[in-house]
Amino acid sequence: MKVLMVCLGNICRSPLAEGILQHKINTFNLDWEVQSAGTGNWHIGELPDSRSILTAQKHGIDITHQRGAQLKYSDLEEYDLIFAMDSSNYQNILRLAVRDEQRKKVHLIMNMIEPKENRSVPDPYWNDDGFELVYEMLDKACNAIIQKYGDDGIINTSSSNQSDSSH
Ligand code: 4NP
Repeated sequence: MKVLMVCLGNICRSPLAEGILQHKINTFNLDWEVQSAGTGNWHIGELPDSRSILTAQKHGIDITHQRGAQLKYSDLEEYDLIFAMDSSNYQNILRLAVRDEQRKKVHLIMNMIEPKENRSVPDPYWNDDGFELVYEMLDKACNAIIQKYGDDGIINTSSSNQSDSSH
């Protein structure tokens, strides 16, 4: 399974989503890959925002190997699941798609826990206090992703939270 997390800048939300899902992939020893990208091109090649790095670190997750990338058409072919952080990202991803098979891969990430609510992960770029909330939302959404798509849904993600509270 290849998963792509997408936000606007690929420095705040989607790097956290990538780091959180990667951590769970490691915990459950899943044969999955996860990457992230932004719909915008401003931060290509950059480290994640320092506030995302710190928030991840607080939860025992290192995201300093990540570098900014921009979403490209071939991502719609390469990945099996593409998760948008907000409805604007979602629309921009769909704009690149040319086939239903590609469109079906694209989901709003928070719909994994609140189906059809179309809730967005708030952009924390302008809000220093927003990063912990973003982390908590993405942690729950990533648990739901693993429960739905991992090993036919037999994984119990509640035990994975133990590692988060130990830091
Ligand atoms: P992100 O946040 O989409 O969660 O990475 C943003 C980061 C940078 C910008 C906007 C949003 N920017 O305008 O540079």
